[in-house]
Amino acid sequence: GPPHPLGFAISLLFHMTQTEVCPPSCNCKSLGETKGLQIDCSSRKLKEVPALPVNAKRLYLQNNSLTTVPPGALDSLLSVEEVKLFDNPWNCDCHILYLKFWLEDVSEPSLANIRCATPAPVRMKPLKQLTGNELGTCKKSLPIKCLEFFWRDLILIAAAIVTFILVAWALKFSKKVVFQINLRRYTTRGPLLWRHTSKNHKLH
Ligand SMILES: *[C@@H]1O[C@H](CO)[C@@H](O)[C@H](O)[C@H]1NC(C)=O
Repeated sequence: GPPHPLGFAISLLFHMTQTEVCPPSCNCKSLGETKGLQIDCSSRKLKEVPALPVNAKRLYLQNNSLTTVPPGALDSLLSVEEVKLFDNPWNCDCHILYLKFWLEDVSEPSLANIRCATPAPVRMKPLKQLTGNELGTCKKSLPIKCLEFFWRDLILIAAAIVTFILVAWALKFSKKVVFQINLRRYTTRGPLLWRHTSKNHKLH
C-alpha cells in the first residue's frame, strides 16, 4: 500500500540520526553543543574510512591500514578542522589526488606527515610533495581504456552494418516472396474467382 507517514517520518529521523552516529569501531567525544565531534578511529587496523558523522570536527584515523579514500567520501564533512591520517600505507596512484586536494582545502597542516607506501617509486614520499608526473600508473591506463573503447565501438559499428545489410536483404527477399505469392494468387485463384463471379452474373 502507500507509505505510512509515520513510517516515513521514522525512516527520515533514522537517516538523520545515522549521519550523527559514531562509527562502530571509533571513540567519539562531543566538543560542545555546536562545536561538533572529535572522532578517534586511530590504531584500529581499519582498511577503509568508515562512514563518518557530518559534524566531525577532529578526525583521527592515524595508524590504520588505509590505502586510499574513494572520491567524494569526505565531501559531506563540512566542519572538519583537524585530520590525522599519518601511519597508513597510502597507495599514491592518481586516486590519492582526491585526498590530497581535500586536505589542501580543509586542513593544509594535516598533509605534512602523510607519506606514501606504494607504488615503489614514491615510497616514503610525503603526499604534500607528490607531483603530477609521479602519478604515472594511472595515466598509462588511460590510452589503454581509449583503445578498448575504440575497438568496442568499431565492433559495434561493424555489427550494426552487418545487421543493416541482413535486414535489407531479408526485406528484399521477403518482398520477393510476398510478390510471388501475390502473383501466384492472381494467376491461379484470381481468374478462377473472376470466372466464378462472372458465371454468377450470367445467371442473374
Ligand atoms: C598502532 O596500532 C597497533 C594496533 O593496530 C597498536 O598495537 C600500536 O600500539 C599502535 N601504534 C601507535 C604508535 O599508536
